[in-house]
Parts: sequence; C-alpha cells; structure tokens
Amino acid sequence: MTLDQHLLQTLIDIYPNTVSFESFSKHYTCSKDDFLEAGRILQIKDYPISHTNNHFYLTIPLISEAKLNRLTKNTKTHHPFIVKEAIPSTNTFALNSFSSFEEGSVILAHHQTKGKGRLGRQWSATMGKSIALSLVLRPTIDSQSLPLFTQLTAAALCQALKAYGDTQIKWPNDIVLNGKKIAGILIESQFQENQLEGLVIGIGINTHLEHEDFEDSLLHKATSLKIETRQIVDPNVIIADFLTVFDQFYSDWLKTHKTYPFISVCKKESALLGKEIHVFSPNEPPKAATVKDINEKGELIVHYQGHAQLTPLQSLDFSVRNSQNGYI
Ligand code: BTN
Repeated sequence: MTLDQHLLQTLIDIYPNTVSFESFSKHYTCSKDDFLEAGRILQIKDYPISHTNNHFYLTIPLISEAKLNRLTKNTKTHHPFIVKEAIPSTNTFALNSFSSFEEGSVILAHHQTKGKGRLGRQWSATMGKSIALSLVLRPTIDSQSLPLFTQLTAAALCQALKAYGDTQIKWPNDIVLNGKKIAGILIESQFQENQLEGLVIGIGINTHLEHEDFEDSLLHKATSLKIETRQIVDPNVIIADFLTVFDQFYSDWLKTHKTYPFISVCKKESALLGKEIHVFSPNEPPKAATVKDINEKGELIVHYQGHAQLTPLQSLDFSVRNSQNGYI
C-alpha cells in the first residue's frame, strides 16, 4: 500500500478523530513532508478530508471493512466485504469476476467513475458521499423470478432506511424520502451457456451528497440523507442494517418461496398505490393509469384509462411517473 492509502485507512479506522504526524509516524516510517503530501494526495483524489494544525481528519465517516465485519457478525449469511477506492462500477466489477466471488460477497466503492442506473441511465455521486454496493447471489431460480428480487431488495432497503425518516418505495426500484429519491436498485444477472449463474444486486444510496453535488436536472427529484435529516450518518450502519433485513427476507424466501413477507412491505410502503401515474414503455407514448395493486409476483397492477381490465406491469420493461408533479 502507498502512504496515502495507509493514511486513508488510518483516518477511516479512527473516525471522527484526527491523525497527527507524531501518531502516524509511530506506525509508518515517513518524514513530515511525506505525511503532508499523503494528505494532499487524498484531498486531490476528492476524499472528504480536512486538516487543522497539521492534523488530518475525515469530515464524514467512510466505509470501513473492519466496522462492517463487526456490525454483521450475526447476520444470517456470511458477507465477505471487498472495499475499493475508485472503480467504474461495483456491479460491473462483480459481473466481470463473478465466479471468483462467493455467495453473499459485497463489493463496495468509495467512488464509482461509471456507475450504472436502471434503463441505461448513469448513476454518479461525489467521492465518499454515497454508498455504492453490489451483493453477489447464486440462487437456483429461473429468470422469470428476477423481478421479485427488485421487490425483495426494495422492501429490505426501505425498512433499513426507516431509521432516517418516512421512507417509501416507488415501484419498482426507488426509495424515496420526503417525495425525493434517496436510493436506487439495479439488479443484473450473470448467465453461463443460457443458464442463470447468479445475480448482482446493485444499490446506490445518497448519504452525504449536498445540493451542489446534484445536477440541476435532478435537484427536484433526488436528495440525500444528509440533506433530509441534517445529520451525518454512518454508511456502515446503513449497510449492516440493510443486509440484516435482506438476509431475513432472502433466507425465508429460499425456504418457502412465499413472497408475502416482502411484497406486503412493498404494498404498505408504496408511494404509488392509489395514485394517478403515467406509464413509460420503450417506443410508446406515455399512458395514463391508476395504480391498483402490487401482486405476489412483484408486478404493478394498473388500470389504464378506458380499459375494462387491469394490466400487470413487469419491472424490467416499464418506468412510471406521477401525473401531477412528475416524480412520485
Ligand atoms: C437506479 O435507480 O437507476 C439504479 C441505481 C443503482 C446504482 C448502484 S450503485 C452500485 C451499483 N453499481 C452500479 O454501477 N450501479 C449500482
């Protein structure tokens, strides 16, 4: 590891305390100039660090492998954590080396340079100010069950984020807080010779993004936990809480194949049930509809204006928007 990586690790481990040259040089042989240079490198890389009187400190907590291991020691599934500094996308990283990751592995990055959103969109966030997580799973399922995983994940994420406010689920894959998006889910599958080898469950959570970190076009529809709660949150606690709830839903589903436990959460916490929406599908004009239900397959049941029957929508094909304010 380079000196700046050692300094980063030290800052992560001792957050919120400061690191002085005197304490750092007890563990890592270096001159004071080397120490200051290491701190400057981290600042140039955009890590959220500050300094005062030649002490460095993190302004917000970052993902810590040691803390995650501590917080998840009692989860139902064992989760090996792989924490990267900056990579294009945790989902791409997981998919590219899929066979090398064991079930339950969690790939995390302080920064993604080419984060992917649903329907081919981009997902970008400032260094250290959001959670980028990819969970590797190898369930023996057919690809028709895939949309269910978005609902299972949304239910777990919504419950884990309840600690920060009245979070809701905007079918199929958004978690919203106070009417704006706080987190998104992108599930990708890995096939080998037409056989489903496994899944990568990608989750992005806006933790400490400020207004200026969002593009103007997103300001009216996206937000962060910091903006909404005016508090510093610990990404490690959020990740551990999410994995705890996820593991419970997932292990129950593997045993029973009953979807009620998580679909009932999706319904209870739905931001769309009963609402007038517009349904967007590729190559078609948006269609006005009323949301009636979410069924046991995780499909959104809508009533299109002028239609006699209800129509189920699968999450892979559609996005929906509220008819009034354009987002929820
Ligand atoms: C969406 O709302 O469109 C889905 C966003 C998913 C973003 C996460 S961040 C971690 C993982 N890696 C990616 O490239 N995307 C997902």
